Amino acid sequence: MKTAVCPGSFDPVTMGHLDIIERAAGIFDRVIVAVLHNARKTTWFSVEERMDLLTKATSHLPNVEVDSSSMLLADYAAKRNVMVVVKGLRAVSDFEHEFQMALINRKLNPTLDTVFLNSGERFQYLSSSAVKEVGLLGGDISDFIPSVILGDIYAKIRKGEM
Ligand code: PNS
Repeated sequence: MKTAVCPGSFDPVTMGHLDIIERAAGIFDRVIVAVLHNARKTTWFSVEERMDLLTKATSHLPNVEVDSSSMLLADYAAKRNVMVVVKGLRAVSDFEHEFQMALINRKLNPTLDTVFLNSGERFQYLSSSAVKEVGLLGGDISDFIPSVILGDIYAKIRKGEM
């Protein structure tokens, strides 16, 4: 049984994330989508909200589990007996940081490999922060966010809870 972990902040999950999760779910027997802490980001959605949005967005994928942790990715993978991390790579600008994280994670957990899937061409420009800004300023985000969670995102914007 080959299991992979797809880690991220997922604030919120976008069509770009979902594309990577779906493709990983086609390659691996089981995929754990893990909401982890990114010290470089502040989030709109709580961990519970992000897990809830991910659970809705991946409900059509029977081999995908949604989880969260405040641990290091390297330690979380060891705890879950996972040896592969799957990450999406958009433009070249993602590469340096992702490359660094992959090397640090392997240093911390020598059994851990990181596999990069290139983001689908339709999603190269997508990021959670850009989607939030467009949504907040009244733009149409329906092409960027899985349709099952669009209502939740608009509700958050209406409540002004960010
Ligand atoms: O979606 P993001 O914000 O690009 O995902 C980054 C994330 C959450 C995967 C990364 O920050 C992470 O692995 N956080 C867990 C804590 C950790 O292991 N930090 C060391 C990274 S070298």
